[in-house]
Amino acid sequence: MADQNNPIERHLFLRVMGSFATGVTVVTVAGKNGDHRGFTASAVSSLSLEPRMLLVCVSEHSTSLDIIKEAGMFCVNILASNQQEIAQQFATRAGDRFAGLRWRPGAETGAPIIDGSLAYAECRLVDTCNGGDHVILMGEILAADAHEAEPLLYFRGRYGTYDAVVAPVVHPADIWEIW
Ligand SMILES: Cc1cc2nc3c(=O)[nH]c(=O)nc-3n(C[C@H](O)[C@H](O)[C@H](O)COP(=O)(O)O)c2cc1C
Repeated sequence: MADQNNPIERHLFLRVMGSFATGVTVVTVAGKNGDHRGFTASAVSSLSLEPRMLLVCVSEHSTSLDIIKEAGMFCVNILASNQQEIAQQFATRAGDRFAGLRWRPGAETGAPIIDGSLAYAECRLVDTCNGGDHVILMGEILAADAHEAEPLLYFRGRYGTYDAVVAPVVHPADIWEIW
């Protein structure tokens, strides 16, 4: 319901923000006691070029939040198009979400780097900031890499794949040749 504090209805907010197509990531962390955690996140953005920073918006109810704050480190795994099951697993599954998954600890953070991801960024948590019912994690990127693969996308509550629309570059002179 819209009210004085919220002029935009919840449903409208979800409809509008769900129209912003995003990639899908799994944010991972190595806990101080040696265990590892991770959750699916699409509220991820590049933040700064100098220094290299990114941000992740995490629900204040996330069970990973305190572990990331305590570790002071995390890794953003950007998922490839064939990793939809992993996205679902890290959004819903209770217990060990890493069961059956191939991963390695990041050299800089110890946070899991998931095999087959499109790209990853190992981060040091440099700041946090409250934003309503979410917390914004600001991370300085310590190590990162990207591979050739197609991205997994999320749009209006559904997963999808990227269909590159490349406008043909036509030189005016070419038009005469074609004609
Ligand atoms: C496609 C997708 C994107 C999501 N993006 C976020 C996000 O950006 N931030 C967030 O806090 N939760 C996000 N979630 C929900 C979390 O993955 C989910 O609540 C998860 O269970 C949280 O795990 P945790 O409590 O162990 O941290 C997303 C879920 C899906 C399916």
